[in-house]
Amino acid sequence: MLKLAVLVSGGGTNLQAIIDGIEAGTISNARIEVVISNNKNAYALTRAKEHGIEAKAVSPKDFPSRDAFNDALFEALTDREIDLVVLAGCLVVIPGKIIKYFRNRIINIHPALIPSFCGKGYYGLKVHEKALERGVKVTGATVHFVDEGTDTGPIILQKAVEIQDDDTPEKLQLRVMKEAEWVIMPKAIDLIANDKITMEDGRVKIRR
Ligand code: GAR
Repeated sequence: MLKLAVLVSGGGTNLQAIIDGIEAGTISNARIEVVISNNKNAYALTRAKEHGIEAKAVSPKDFPSRDAFNDALFEALTDREIDLVVLAGCLVVIPGKIIKYFRNRIINIHPALIPSFCGKGYYGLKVHEKALERGVKVTGATVHFVDEGTDTGPIILQKAVEIQDDDTPEKLQLRVMKEAEWVIMPKAIDLIANDKITMEDGRVKIRR
């Protein structure tokens, strides 16, 4: 049984999709051990508690230095012997020590088709604002492994979403979530939990 830690910062709709997937059995061989938020007030923590999952706030504000915060986050994961770290709308920069220790065991959801509209400064609503500004006809979401770069790790799954004429950043954000993020994030976890993913030359191969 794969032990997951889900790291969040906000509303937690992707967390909810994972909880629902586990409860419905569309994600098998996985359980959420802990939900960790850098923001004490994140609604995601309430979602976790409502489902009997440990909800923990680890905020940089509560530590004297960034290193002390990074160590606390590292310990929260290693103390619980976490197998897979899931970044579900997590706005914290993951420290190198965690990336190294959990090599190819950290996944992130990004609300665009990487390598478009990603990298430093591209998060949340901003991604959709930029996509609409550029006038792309198709956008989507990507689940990828996390490496030392920003949104540069091996891609696991992507799903496209068409832009509509009357889209606003908010409308597009919701459609990308519904049509892509809440589908591919649970799917990626199920694939990993059931040993369907291998790496070849730095690229992800999926065994169907
Ligand atoms: C999601 O749209 C996710 O793709 C995005 O933050 C949102 C979190 O929503 N992540 C990023 O932009 C990371 N670069 P949620 O808290 O409702 O899951």
